Amino acid sequence: SHHPTICYRPIQPCDLEILERIHADIFPIRYESEFFQSVVHERDIVSWAAVDRSQPNGRSDELIGFVTARIVLAKETEQQIKDIASMCQASYDWINQAHVFLCNPSDEYEQKNFLILTPMIGDLLRYDPSKPDQTLVYILTLGVVETYRNLGIARSLIRQVIKYASSVPACRAVYLHVISYNVPAIHLYKKMSFKCIRRLQDFYLINGQHYDSFLFVYYVNGG
Ligand code: ACO
Repeated sequence: SHHPTICYRPIQPCDLEILERIHADIFPIRYESEFFQSVVHERDIVSWAAVDRSQPNGRSDELIGFVTARIVLAKETEQQIKDIASMCQASYDWINQAHVFLCNPSDEYEQKNFLILTPMIGDLLRYDPSKPDQTLVYILTLGVVETYRNLGIARSLIRQVIKYASSVPACRAVYLHVISYNVPAIHLYKKMSFKCIRRLQDFYLINGQHYDSFLFVYYVNGG
């Protein structure tokens, strides 16, 4: 019946509306409009869109899948964490423990998420101050609309991210969080040789209920 011809291209400002709609449809967390603006204007974010060229005119360039990722500079995040620690008169350990209070789907979700998660991965990569240019790629969102699932589109999107990360010599790893009940996504990451390195208790707070998350990492460039 329907033979899709899937192509991959950058996400553009004209994708804004549909990008927001798909996020609202498939994720339990609400993302702020600032997040979508950053994606379409490529502010510290890399992203890929999947489109189906076999769709009739007008829809042949419409998003049917996407991946968004943030480039994290290890040095900057180290300093931000130190600043927060001194502001709070707290230690790194305490900040790691505190992620549960800070990461909730509020206005500042993205920023807090970003600030709090980085030291954990920093520890895992043994951040080396003599190499201040080291970066990481943090996958923020990955999604495929329901009618296009199980065709390998998510796998291809993740491959694009890994290819990009590998092409940046200073990049050490691609990493992400996934909610513990998301079986399809967990299967996908395991199948693509991501390593599950932590279970973070009560990481997400969604509609008043806590859920654990898994931290998955794919090392690149000998990271
Ligand atoms: N059950 C079990 N395993 C699955 C399933 C499923 N329903 N769907 C995919 N997989 C696994 C399989 O191992 C598959 O490999 P195989 O084909 O060799 O069996 C592998 O994933 C690759 O599958 P794809 O076809 O590439 O995955 P798809 O394009 O269907 O997208 C995705 C998977 C992104 C998880 C999709 O189901 C989706 O959009 N879900 C809703 C949003 C979501 O959960 N996103 C990820 C959240 S985590 C994050 O964003 C960082």
